[in-house]
Amino acid sequence: MDPKDEIKQKIEISELIGEYLQLKPAGSNSFKAVCPFHSEKTPSFQVSSEKQIWHCFGCGEGGDCLSFVMKMEGMDFPEALLHLGKKVGVEVKRFSSVEGNLKQRLLELNDLAAKFFRKVLLDSTKATNVRDYVLSREIPENISEKFRLGFALDDWNALTVFLLKKGYSETEIIQAGLGLKKKSGSGIVDRFRNRMMIPLFDHHGNVVGFTGRVLPGSDKDGPKYMNSPETPIYHKGSLLYGLNFAKRGVKDNKCVVVVEGNLDVIASHKIGVDNVVASSGTALTEDQIKLLSRYTNTIVFAFDQDVAGFNASKRGISIARSLDFDVRAAILPDLFNDPDDLIKNSPDIWKEITTNSVPIMEYLINSVVKGKDVTNIDDKRLIAKELLPAISDMNNVVEREHWLQKVSGLLGVETSILRTSITNTHKKINKEKKLNKKVAQINVVNKGTKQEQAAFLLIGSLVSKQELFTSVFDLILVDYLPSDNTKKLYNYCVNEYHQSSQTVQKSFFKRLRSTLESEKQEDLLSLLDKSSLLAEEAFQNLSQTKVLEQLNRLIVLLRASFLKDQKKKFAIKIRQAESAGDQSAVHELIKQLKELN
Ligand code: CTP
Ligand code: MN
Repeated sequence: MDPKDEIKQKIEISELIGEYLQLKPAGSNSFKAVCPFHSEKTPSFQVSSEKQIWHCFGCGEGGDCLSFVMKMEGMDFPEALLHLGKKVGVEVKRFSSVEGNLKQRLLELNDLAAKFFRKVLLDSTKATNVRDYVLSREIPENISEKFRLGFALDDWNALTVFLLKKGYSETEIIQAGLGLKKKSGSGIVDRFRNRMMIPLFDHHGNVVGFTGRVLPGSDKDGPKYMNSPETPIYHKGSLLYGLNFAKRGVKDNKCVVVVEGNLDVIASHKIGVDNVVASSGTALTEDQIKLLSRYTNTIVFAFDQDVAGFNASKRGISIARSLDFDVRAAILPDLFNDPDDLIKNSPDIWKEITTNSVPIMEYLINSVVKGKDVTNIDDKRLIAKELLPAISDMNNVVEREHWLQKVSGLLGVETSILRTSITNTHKKINKEKKLNKKVAQINVVNKGTKQEQAAFLLIGSLVSKQELFTSVFDLILVDYLPSDNTKKLYNYCVNEYHQSSQTVQKSFFKRLRSTLESEKQEDLLSLLDKSSLLAEEAFQNLSQTKVLEQLNRLIVLLRASFLKDQKKKFAIKIRQAESAGDQSAVHELIKQLKELN
């Protein structure tokens, strides 16, 4: 069997899509979700298990499991095939696309480098200092193994020599971010030297880059952490460290905890708090937040004690709010600098504060008020300046009012006065929101005219059950259908119907779909999916007799509207013949019109 067909047979589309979106059952064999491909509040994204397809009635996107992965992961077709093949154990031949090939090579290189660094950490006589360091950080062996910690020797080219021997070129090693061109002369040197190596995983668990921590006491200068550069497989702004290990924990705990440091993630796993990812010391980007939205609606920030972390996160918090996340905080006790520090001393407090997080506003109020005198006018002004913009950022009126009252009590200033100072910013936000809402309304439920809807339902139910086709085949004419595309699709149905033999195993729908696929009829494919999902939804609880009744009603409707159109056309022709004085043509046309009636 063709690997594509084998993969499609082995994948259950609702399970696959369920890994990305929160699916809600809608009828016996289908699901609904909020569409990830356009902005909406009410779900118009539909998945059918029976037909193994998805379609969004808002933005019109749709297809099968492969097209979903392509769109969701930004992969091209061969990449998606390889990815799903790996998932269900179907072997897919290597890429043919140039870009895919390069990415594949770079992934292999990074994975090989991780193995090399790991082996050095475990076995090399020159790695005692890093082994001591891992011990001093209280990282147990199983965790060190899980996160594939390693060591880059204090050597100019230990890794590159190894990789060149394995058959990779200097250019590839540089492209993978592992080597640097020598400043003078030819040849390359290792990018990472004398550092503890932490492989960076993408959310599938592939090694896409590294961050290397300087060892204490090493006389080399340079930053505490050195990271891989941006490469075709590593984009700092879209990676969340630890997400590959956190997916299950995030779903189970219904929230994700975002920490600043990679070693905070590792420490947290050590004590079984596994719904943790690291932003790697920068503000969360929109890409990262959208990635998280596949798994949860709640983000819990755990900031280090310094103010830098929170300030850097403001933008991320605001994006998360605008994407309707519940944004919360895990407040560290004053004594501890960061989660790693806390876990080392009081692991139970880490469990407690990540489980019982507080609204982010509470964290903000705490940290703004800390060290200030709420009765002093200058401090009051400072506090208000920090807190009011955050309040005006809130979407929900009730929530906004709640925090306004809190701040009013805290500062001893009337809520009405505080309110006037936030309304200005708020007007602007409201205006934007109204605009967004308008766009969403245009998108939602674009199901077409009455005639088009009838045609969709009709075709959709015929392709689901071949028996229905047999019962209504004689009652419709292709001319009754309202648009060129529905006519074309209907003709495809009729052809498939005539070609079908009882021995074929595949359902009518699947056969028709593969025909359209092989003929690259993208528009008709989308129309087919849309029609069959609409029919599935409309007729799901009806008996066969009732369905037939409905189909007859639809045919009557289409026929009536067809006749009405025809009559209009005749009326025009008759008028034209009359004004041309062509009496015999007029007679002939009237005769035809009578036949039509
Ligand atoms: N970071 C970085 N480059 C630096 C410093 C920090 O990329 N020069 C990133 C790293 O991903 C690091 C995160 O910012 O994990 C947080 O930095 P910091 O709080 O300084 O590190 P810790 O995780 O606390 O590291 P350690 O405990 O080893 O000091
Ligand atoms: Mn730390």
